[in-house]
Amino acid sequence: MKEKLIEEAIQIRSRAYVPYSHFPVGAALLTKSGKVYIGCNIENAAYPSTCCAERVAIFKAISDGEMEFAEMAVAADTKRPVPPCGTCRQVMSEFFSPDMTIHLTNLNKDVHTLTTDQLLPFSFQKEDMDE
Ligand code: THU
Repeated sequence: MKEKLIEEAIQIRSRAYVPYSHFPVGAALLTKSGKVYIGCNIENAAYPSTCCAERVAIFKAISDGEMEFAEMAVAADTKRPVPPCGTCRQVMSEFFSPDMTIHLTNLNKDVHTLTTDQLLPFSFQKEDMDE
């Protein structure tokens, strides 16, 4: 499944809307029910309104009623496997288990696999708001 997710993440970069950065990113998210949700980055003339590929894939899945996730791949044309931004790491920590694996890759298919907790250790969680 890892190879399929990586391939899907690379392919969906072709749908990225990136007129400002010209930096297409792709993501593929496998649910525990066996579905794959793909996402690409979607930019905006008001730059902070941009949504990264990872969050597009995650929000597509959540809005489709999926809440249980198994594995993710993220791909971009980078020298090293692409590191997700801080906002995406926080969103991953909300919806992924701490030990879920995320495969970061590039077009050479160098792969760096990390868990959610490794990507964002000591992350803010809903339990932190409990009294
Ligand atoms: N970007 C992603 O989509 N995912 C990442 O992991 C890193 C950054 C996007 C946001 C923006 O459209 C472009 O890459 C440059 O930052």
